Amino acid sequence: MHSIVAKKPGGVNVLQKIDFELPDLKPNDVLIKNHSIGVNFIDIYFREGLYPWPHEQNLVLGSEGAGEIEAVGENVENFKVGDRVAYAQANNAYSTHRVIDENLVVSIPDSISYEIAASAILKGLTVKYLVLDSFKLESHHKVLFHAAAGGVGLIAGQWINSIGCHLIGTAGSDHKCSIATSNGYAKMINYTNQKFLSEVQATTNNEGVDVVYDSVGQDTMSDSFKCLKKHGTVVSFGQSSGIYKSLQMSDLMTGSLHLTRPTLFHFYADHKWLLQSSSMLFEMIDTKKIEFKNITEYKLEEVAQAHIDIESRKTTGSVILKT
Ligand SMILES: NC(=O)c1ccc[n+]([C@@H]2O[C@H](COP(=O)([O-])OP(=O)(O)OC[C@H]3O[C@@H](n4cnc5c(N)ncnc54)[C@H](OP(=O)(O)O)[C@@H]3O)[C@@H](O)[C@H]2O)c1
Repeated sequence: MHSIVAKKPGGVNVLQKIDFELPDLKPNDVLIKNHSIGVNFIDIYFREGLYPWPHEQNLVLGSEGAGEIEAVGENVENFKVGDRVAYAQANNAYSTHRVIDENLVVSIPDSISYEIAASAILKGLTVKYLVLDSFKLESHHKVLFHAAAGGVGLIAGQWINSIGCHLIGTAGSDHKCSIATSNGYAKMINYTNQKFLSEVQATTNNEGVDVVYDSVGQDTMSDSFKCLKKHGTVVSFGQSSGIYKSLQMSDLMTGSLHLTRPTLFHFYADHKWLLQSSSMLFEMIDTKKIEFKNITEYKLEEVAQAHIDIESRKTTGSVILKT
């Protein structure tokens, strides 16, 4: 059994492979042999130390995975050895094996591969709360979604399209724009060479959109507010370009605007929400409303390269590690 740990916060050079012995299972724990592990931008925030570490050294990164149960604690009720499962939980996933409380795990239907489950469970549940819980989208809404060709972005495109909204996206290259277009976005803006604010105003007859989903942060947030209709909402859910630090309350006064800054793990901790939302997500996948045509695979030991590629904006769609 081995894991990839970050020895201390820093660049990819802090990542190291270490062997470990199986710890004793607590009564409610299950032992999962990971088959596929999702790589997410949050792993980079943790690796760099932007998000605080739970302890000082040797943090096993990775927050999303799928695999098979190999052992169960004495009080485990809902799972048995051999069950196919997935989980999304901050850290401890970059590992051949993982011990986790049974309440943080969901069963995967037989129709869904480990690769898809590890691409979907964190990012897909994020999209679920973004479009139905943080802001309840309805078909008449106009929506702007930044970083549309990324892991979360391609799932969001398909989910929001299935609701019937008018969906505008941004991405950093023409190639990414064309991938996003085939994943549900009606209009794409290449924000490397076009100003997304003026493009959104032109497409909406200067009306603006009802909601902007912004995970880019520093580079986009100021204009994201300006893209809104009166009473519109910014859902800020990440900061891939850095933290936006210039917010003034008066920025919201320009249109009686709303702002929310949600995080998946607050939803995920509600077990009823987790069961309902994961079943909704798997149903969307089963019925092909959401497809995963852009999964890039690396070996677990190649995770440093995966981080380099995500940070340098090379990747599209979901990135996974194979054990
Ligand atoms: N709050 C939550 O619950 C939650 C949960 C999951 C994910 N997230 C957030 O959602 C976002 C997307 O996550 P993901 O894992 O699917 O990543 P991703 O979208 O696949 O990758 C991030 C994308 O951000 C864009 N970007 C813009 N400026 C960038 C910069 N300076 N450096 C790097 N990337 C930049 C790039 O797309 P372009 O080249 O097209 O600009 C890049 O591909 C992240 O911000 C993540 O933290 C939040």
